[in-house]
Amino acid sequence: MPILTTPTTWILETANTAYAFGLNSQGFLLHTYWGQKLPRAEDYPLASEFTGWSSFNGATDVYTEEFPAYAGSKYTEPCLKTTFADGVRDTVLVFDSSEVLDSELRIVLRDSYYPLTITLHYKIHVEYDLLERFVTVQNSGDTPVTLERLFSAQWHPPAHRQYRLSHLAGAWFKETQMHREVLDSGTKVLESRRITTSHQNNPWFALDNALQPATESTGEVWFGVLAWSGNWKLTAESMIYQQTRVSIGLNDWDFALRLEGGQSFTSPSSLGGYSSAGFGAASRALHHYVREEVLPHKHQLRKVLYNSWEATTFDVNEPDQVKLAEIAAEMGVELFVLDDGWFHGRNLDNAALGDWWADEKKFPNGLNPLIEKVNALGMDFGLWLEPEMVNADSDLYRAHPDWVIHFPTRERTEARNQMILNLARGDVQDYLIDLLDKLLSQHNIAFIKWDMNRNVSEPGWQNVLEPKEIWVRYVEGVYRLWGTLRERHPNVIWQSCSGGGGRADLGILHFADQVWISDMTEPTMRLRIQEGYSQIFPANTMEAWVTDMGAKHLPLEFRFHVTMAGLLGIGANLHHWNDQDRALAKKLILEYKAVRQIIQNGQQYRLRSAFEGFFSSVMYVSPDQSEAVLFAFRTHAPDPVLLPPIHLAGLAPTALYKIGETIRSGLAWQQIGLEIRLTDFSSLMLHISRV
Ligand code: DGJ
Repeated sequence: MPILTTPTTWILETANTAYAFGLNSQGFLLHTYWGQKLPRAEDYPLASEFTGWSSFNGATDVYTEEFPAYAGSKYTEPCLKTTFADGVRDTVLVFDSSEVLDSELRIVLRDSYYPLTITLHYKIHVEYDLLERFVTVQNSGDTPVTLERLFSAQWHPPAHRQYRLSHLAGAWFKETQMHREVLDSGTKVLESRRITTSHQNNPWFALDNALQPATESTGEVWFGVLAWSGNWKLTAESMIYQQTRVSIGLNDWDFALRLEGGQSFTSPSSLGGYSSAGFGAASRALHHYVREEVLPHKHQLRKVLYNSWEATTFDVNEPDQVKLAEIAAEMGVELFVLDDGWFHGRNLDNAALGDWWADEKKFPNGLNPLIEKVNALGMDFGLWLEPEMVNADSDLYRAHPDWVIHFPTRERTEARNQMILNLARGDVQDYLIDLLDKLLSQHNIAFIKWDMNRNVSEPGWQNVLEPKEIWVRYVEGVYRLWGTLRERHPNVIWQSCSGGGGRADLGILHFADQVWISDMTEPTMRLRIQEGYSQIFPANTMEAWVTDMGAKHLPLEFRFHVTMAGLLGIGANLHHWNDQDRALAKKLILEYKAVRQIIQNGQQYRLRSAFEGFFSSVMYVSPDQSEAVLFAFRTHAPDPVLLPPIHLAGLAPTALYKIGETIRSGLAWQQIGLEIRLTDFSSLMLHISRV
């Protein structure tokens, strides 16, 4: 039974893990266990009884409350903070009831005085070893309640250990860099205040024992994510009493949600998991779940694409794009994407955003003649859009200057010469739904790259009771716009791009099939960005392009191999490639097509980290373990250097696999490893099959 309950204990089991909490006699709902599944229900600890706190230590300094609300003498991070209509600013939650609905447990808490109920939702994803948590707040009274903080979950790894926090940090052009630090007394905060997920941090954490660190394949790891594409916050609080608590949810910075009587609000989901086999297994659990349960087109194979942005930037027209399309088709490309610069009045980045119809000078007969030619070359057609944005110099802004996010008495700060449409507004959403629906209905468009090229400023929203709701309602508006277009055009593949990886999270992946993870395409930098990204997301969401970045010091094959470890795309100016380059590209595209099923949908093993040295390696194994693809990269290293063997992973231990002339068991390839020779800035890709 995956959900076991008694009147005062709740045990949630997945295939290999368990999570438990219980009610103690003082009425505290306390977290009791998160880790490996135990043989018997009786093995899980009961909620403890403790009365020994002093006048300077509140109960929650000691207790690991499952979902703490700010009330009484609680000085630790709460998940909920409210103000009631009479000005009372604490929330005294008492246990009300629980119910089990298939694979979901619901715990209902209520305020001891006011008609406010909190439902804690726990969904177990048994085969993925993941637990999904979210919260519904219901105001059943007739006066408003303001939520000033609402986190989705507080996660509690076992107490009495010092933890190391792994997280991803970065910037535009340098996303998803791995950072690891030991948590000491105090609170570490990670967040986004930018209205998108951000290039700076991703809503993901992994904790391991600082004194006995986990590796890629060994050791205990507790990890989690937030499925949300706007402002978010994570606090990792280490207590003097040897507890570590990670809280994650909507950012409470400049935040308020007003619930009128009868209204409710449901938080985004946080997913958490436990791995007893290191960081690699933690990532694979997330990959599996994202591929099967989150992505709209699940494991449908993604096409090899060409994107003309770096070749032509804003200078696009039909004949030039056709020339590029012809070369791309000849090389084996399956999807041709026309990027920025195609729409009414767009010649630079200072005009036209918002006017989503073809530029009359560049495409005198509209986009259809180009699309027909691309289709006749045997390729699908894709198009770039930036729906949330507007330039001051656009028909849309001239008609609706009040539609942008702004404060009326303040200058409207522009970034990349653009402003953000207030997608919290239903009328703005409706306008865009209508316009973009027509665009998609009137053209044979198979792929949309949805871009978002700035962060928010002056976050004003006029004529609403609670303008601070903009942070949440904006994201809900993006989801509605994207979701409606998806529903009306279910075959379109969508890409989430925000100047590269500014919007990569499990929320947006309910709408987008793949992510443009960085504008940085120099392959040695890219190796790290891709490795960081892979902590959370599967390879079939990771779009990568071979461009001209790195062409001076890296062979074309190396540049291809880096991108072939995800969704292969090409973004170079193909006119710069000579016949030899094009022939090599054609060969490598063919090789990719032969193994993409394994890369896109297989299990990923990070064998050697690009963050730790000049020699890195990653491997993908098909679900039935009959095939694998191995990539290895050597960046600069002073010669002569003898490379250490690569210890393969994920193969069936007793099955035989042939590499070159050598046949060994899967276990032998793991234990003995594969010796390879690589010179400076060279790479290899090996297709491995079971004998
Ligand atoms: C930013 C994206 O990351 C690029 O790939 C390109 O689409 C430009 N925007 C176009 O403006």
